[in-house]
Amino acid sequence: MCGIVGYAGCRPALNIVVDGLRRLEYRGYDSAGVAIVDGEGDLVTEKRAGKLANLEKALAEDGATGLAAGMTGIGHTRWATHGGPTDRNAHPHRSADGRVAVIHNGILENFARLRAELEAEGVEFTSETDTECAAHLLAAELGHLTEHTDPAERLAEAMRRVCRRLEGAFTLLAVDNLAPGAVVGARRNSPLVVGCGEGENYLASDVSAFIEHTRDAIELGQDQVVLITPEGVSVTDFHGTPVEGTRFHIDWDASAAEKGGYDSFMAKEIDEQPQAVADTLLGRHTENGDLTLDEVRLTDQDLRDVDKVFIVACGTSFHTGMVAKYAIEHWTRIPCEVELASEFRYRDPVLDRSTLVVAISQSGETMDTLMALRHAKEQKARVLAICNTNGSTIPRESDAVLYTHCGPEIAVASTKAFLTQLVACYLVGLHLAQVRGVMYADEVGAVLAQLSEMPAKIQTVLDAMEPVRELARDLADAKSVLFIGRHVGYPVALEGALKLKELAYMHAEGFAAGELKHGPIALIDEGTPVVCVVPSARGRGVLNDKIVSNIQEVRARGARTIVIAEEGDDAVAPYADHLIYVPRTPTLLAPLVTTVPLQVMAGEIATARGNDVDQPRNLAKSVTVE
Ligand code: M6R
Repeated sequence: MCGIVGYAGCRPALNIVVDGLRRLEYRGYDSAGVAIVDGEGDLVTEKRAGKLANLEKALAEDGATGLAAGMTGIGHTRWATHGGPTDRNAHPHRSADGRVAVIHNGILENFARLRAELEAEGVEFTSETDTECAAHLLAAELGHLTEHTDPAERLAEAMRRVCRRLEGAFTLLAVDNLAPGAVVGARRNSPLVVGCGEGENYLASDVSAFIEHTRDAIELGQDQVVLITPEGVSVTDFHGTPVEGTRFHIDWDASAAEKGGYDSFMAKEIDEQPQAVADTLLGRHTENGDLTLDEVRLTDQDLRDVDKVFIVACGTSFHTGMVAKYAIEHWTRIPCEVELASEFRYRDPVLDRSTLVVAISQSGETMDTLMALRHAKEQKARVLAICNTNGSTIPRESDAVLYTHCGPEIAVASTKAFLTQLVACYLVGLHLAQVRGVMYADEVGAVLAQLSEMPAKIQTVLDAMEPVRELARDLADAKSVLFIGRHVGYPVALEGALKLKELAYMHAEGFAAGELKHGPIALIDEGTPVVCVVPSARGRGVLNDKIVSNIQEVRARGARTIVIAEEGDDAVAPYADHLIYVPRTPTLLAPLVTTVPLQVMAGEIATARGNDVDQPRNLAKSVTVE
């Protein structure tokens, strides 16, 4: 949830760390802080509640005395868990003797016990955070390690000792004023990657923090401690055994993580969708339709043995899974269940080695999804990840991965990741169908051809968004907006409502249109906006008829209907107060076009209400706590 940066090199660390934090602010923005060790061995910290801008203002006002000179530093942008978003609780946290500064992402589950022990020893706490325990423990371990002559190695050993006492999920970074030039990091169940430069090295929650300096990176495994200095990187497990991290090259550059003239990252990411979909399809299949998985540890025989598919995911990625269920069951005839990752393992699902669990996650770090996949693996199920983030934990722990090539998604609200996840799910469904012999290569090829037309169709939708923006501004004062859909339009309705809730802070609900009469229709009042996602009359005529009836039902009760239908669907026109046409598309692929107006509408309503579209309140991009 929090963003973490560390730098050890030959240039002033402050700007590098603050720039890195700017790129990681999407991960949390309740407070921000830095700690820099200068050449004199002084450790200086500065931290402020609120967004990074507050910290930058404080740094400018202070003239950054002491901070500007140091070439070793750490920085943190916080999504609060233990302790409110105040200056005091902002990271870094220092040990009582002021010797070390620590930043942390995650939750230390045994912090209450550790805190009680430390307080019994006379340590006075200055914050309500769990992190502060780690700072005091680290200083205590450093105090015991008098035999070490190399200060950097001493810091790494102290961190290993601390980690062995911690429970829960954590990424920790620390600096020690007696070890200038060294930053130590540790990870368990929380992300941390290393950036490898020339005479300088980096640590960060994700590569976007250092992408402008280096595209060479190292993935760290579970329960590892990493020490960076200007000269090198060394990695061990928590007991000091050296381990090799996995090196990788980042295939996008810094400009991909910038706004490029747009008002918000979200607006840019919405516009990038045609390209993102095209990139996700690129090079994915041979002429006879065989799918290329990025990293395959599943054989065709494994896939033929699958007798049940479970999709686990959260939020928008869960909505992807709901759409995927329709496609996978239709194409493969294998039963497919979709579960919220946070519920999955607690329900004790029936899994075995012939179950395929598909874990969908943009970030690859969502703790609920990670825990669901671990549970699946314990039950011997095979796990396939659909993910956007190279080097993240979920693909690393899965048996196979299919990356969505949509580039970095910075805005908290997921847009291009959703569309590309859909594409990845379609590819998985088609591949399963082909391997199992329920679809012939020419049938798979026909769907792939339809998919290849989707980037142009999405572009057509984007080119016609002005009336939607106008309508959105008009809806900005609505108390509540309802969304209805049928078949794959139902998850699209849920996604439309989620976008509106998270961006506009407005009451919004999505319903299966058929459920209206079982309760939700009572919500309709004079003027209530109801967004209706209409299935194609060509593909699923019966569903189209039924939703037209549903639209009439809500309209008869005073609803203001906003209808999303495919071009040429005249049946809905008489009942639509606002009609948004999207290009004709095969039913199962329709979410790739029907979702787009809902994204644009939510973004525009949020802007009209004066909200921060990229960083909605109370949220974070990567949810690394359960
Ligand atoms: O990184 P993930 O795809 O695992 O994230 C899952 C959800 O937290 C995420 O989709 C969230 O719902 C979005 N912010 C919604 O726009």
